[in-house]
Amino acid sequence: MNAIDTDRLLRELTEFLRIPSVSTSASHNADCRAAAEWVAGELRRLGCREVQFLASDTHPVVWGVGPEVPGAPTLLVYGHYDVQPPEPLDEWTTPPFEPTVRDGKLFARGAADDKGQVFCLLKAIQATANRPPVNFRFLIEGEEEYGSRVLFELLRREPERTRADAVLVADMAYVAPRWPAVYTTLRGLCYAEISVRTAKSDLHSGEFGGAAPNAHEELARLLSRLKTPDGKVHIPGLYAPVKRPSKGELATWKRLPFKEGEFLKHRVQAKALTGLKAYTVLERLWALPTFEIHGITGGFTGDGAKTVIPATATAKVSLRLVPDQKLKAVERQLAATVRRLAPKHVQASVKFLHGADPATVKVTHQAFKLLDQAFREVVGRGTVPARAGGSIPVVPALGKGGAPVILTGIGLPDDRLHAPNEKLDLKQLWDGIRVFGRFYELLGSMGVG
Ligand code: BES
Ligand code: MN
Ligand code: MN
Repeated sequence: MNAIDTDRLLRELTEFLRIPSVSTSASHNADCRAAAEWVAGELRRLGCREVQFLASDTHPVVWGVGPEVPGAPTLLVYGHYDVQPPEPLDEWTTPPFEPTVRDGKLFARGAADDKGQVFCLLKAIQATANRPPVNFRFLIEGEEEYGSRVLFELLRREPERTRADAVLVADMAYVAPRWPAVYTTLRGLCYAEISVRTAKSDLHSGEFGGAAPNAHEELARLLSRLKTPDGKVHIPGLYAPVKRPSKGELATWKRLPFKEGEFLKHRVQAKALTGLKAYTVLERLWALPTFEIHGITGGFTGDGAKTVIPATATAKVSLRLVPDQKLKAVERQLAATVRRLAPKHVQASVKFLHGADPATVKVTHQAFKLLDQAFREVVGRGTVPARAGGSIPVVPALGKGGAPVILTGIGLPDDRLHAPNEKLDLKQLWDGIRVFGRFYELLGSMGVG
């Protein structure tokens, strides 16, 4: 293993993190493009024969083909250079796009999700004494946080891009400090806007109040019927395909260093946990569907007071889906339920913004043993199998060619993904570079199959 020049690497990662590549807002299109250029530059420095921008001018998929090593296994490395919006800005101790180190942690939007991890996978290629004999392929996209539509279409047209002996995705975390993990499932996602209209336009609440319908009231009633306080989502058929994890799997979760009380106190930092009480918290997070309201707009929300009855209201909502649920079916179920719940005098509509099927991967392939060994050698403990609550839309498509998709990561559970003060522990990064460097070496020397 080469010595790691941490100062230089930190400078380079800082440069990458400074680019506000927020994919969910068109005002950052040029920044997304700049982040793609940064990735392309790295791939060229790694000696890629082929570096291309595919499928989009604003959020290109960066495709790279590493130097050919005849007879060596092919590893496809996936990651994303886009990030979530940083708001609310005033809750950041230091600004989201001015990466800052405090107490061994690098604070910035994208530090853990996923720029820091993409950086880790790329830098690991140069971390070993000899270049690992692996045929690298890279697919680094810029729209993961917005549903990966561009990459989806690309892989539908050109599935041969996923031809590989293994696919490596590092966009997740250890299950706890010193407990690296591989993930056997990801939840899917169905993201929608539910809108209601109750009148032609807003009305004076004195002139009309008491006799005219109110869009916010109708929307609130509708939303509150979609999920009851016990945590049950009331969409007919939603739970039908959902299977309980096996007894064996539930037993392995019991052995993980996860305590519900600690989770409430240190991670959620609320007064109580919610959801279906008959299930453990891990089962609620990993093996059951959810319904969340992200925000409600319409009516009057400005400074001061305005006496108005709003004619329209919109809620952004999403459902997380678990194995055997299908996005298309859930979309139909949600639309039908909203139609049924809306009273006759309310015009309700559902618009689907993006989504993803859940993903399931078997972790029995030889490549998982090599990753386990690499973690064991570098951090002193191998990978535990776990499930993930989050989603990576393109994972099912990455596995279509038959290659095992390795879902892992170097983050920690307290990295605050998508939230203010997102961070990456630098120790995790330096260890991660050694782990993946060793993994590439093992893959190259032992082959896969
Ligand atoms: N890296 C996350 C996914 C993730 C987070 C997996 C935590 C496991 C644990 C990814 O960048 C992400 O946030 N995905 C979105 C996808 C969506 C916008 C289509 C998500 O899960 O909300
Ligand atoms: Mn991510
Ligand atoms: Mn994310």
